[in-house]
Amino acid sequence: MASVERIENRSADGKPAQALTEVVVRPGPPARFDRIARLYRLMEYLSFGPMLERCRFHHIPALTNSRRALVFGDGDGRFLARILAAAPHLRADAVDSSSAMLHLLRKRVAAQGDRDRLTTTCADARIFTPHSAGYDLVVTHFFLDCLSERETDRLIARVRAYLAPGARWLVSEFQIPNASALQRGLARTVISGLYAAFRLLTGLAVRRIPGWPALLARQGFRRKTTHSWLGGLLISELGEVPEQPHLSLCPPTEK
Ligand SMILES: C[S@@+](CC[C@H](N)C(=O)[O-])C[C@H]1O[C@@H](n2cnc3c(N)ncnc32)[C@H](O)[C@@H]1O
Repeated sequence: MASVERIENRSADGKPAQALTEVVVRPGPPARFDRIARLYRLMEYLSFGPMLERCRFHHIPALTNSRRALVFGDGDGRFLARILAAAPHLRADAVDSSSAMLHLLRKRVAAQGDRDRLTTTCADARIFTPHSAGYDLVVTHFFLDCLSERETDRLIARVRAYLAPGARWLVSEFQIPNASALQRGLARTVISGLYAAFRLLTGLAVRRIPGWPALLARQGFRRKTTHSWLGGLLISELGEVPEQPHLSLCPPTEK
């Protein structure tokens, strides 16, 4: 559960200055993926076969000129290993709240000799702030579904301030497709089932996929390419901010 803290700024005479009162919402603990880190890959293959992997890797050929990536919640590091192998000048910063996932990720990347191009931070992405600016790529594969609408909005706004002109944001997600009633119903059932399973296994509190396309668009991202699989249940989308200097439509103020 998120906790709400009221910080009263007092005026010189010690009385609370109403107009200055701030409300800070502190998120509850992140979902505990440590518990399932070792089983995650097997669980994925048993449920979706190679489909999630196709989705994650689809845009890699378009990203081989990337130089600095910020990757949230990459899990056991299959995407990072693949993109580091494909993009020889890329350096990547991986952020994940699960130390077990990060351990697997580092091991995988080290095994192919790319460890020196990777830094890892064990942190809650909902409160994480990058150390420096200039990222030209942000990656969130099946990660934004671990955040609420508001948390996603705040993450995108915060990270946006650390991006280079022309930066790209790669998202893979489940979605309810714009399709027949039957396909939509099936997708709803699969997504609810996944949320129920992750609630049980990791304590994930989120119940619905945030509206990330609109939230990215609000921060100036334009959709570049989209691909979908399984009748639209899976989507991978590459968005890009214009080359012009940073123009934040919604400044990254923490609400
Ligand atoms: C559903 S898994 C997705 C893993 C991988 N990206 C994939 O494509 O399958 C979510 C990942 O995000 C991490 N995660 C979940 N909530 C997080 C948070 N608030 N901050 C940082 N990492 C988080 C989990 O530890 C896990 O590695």
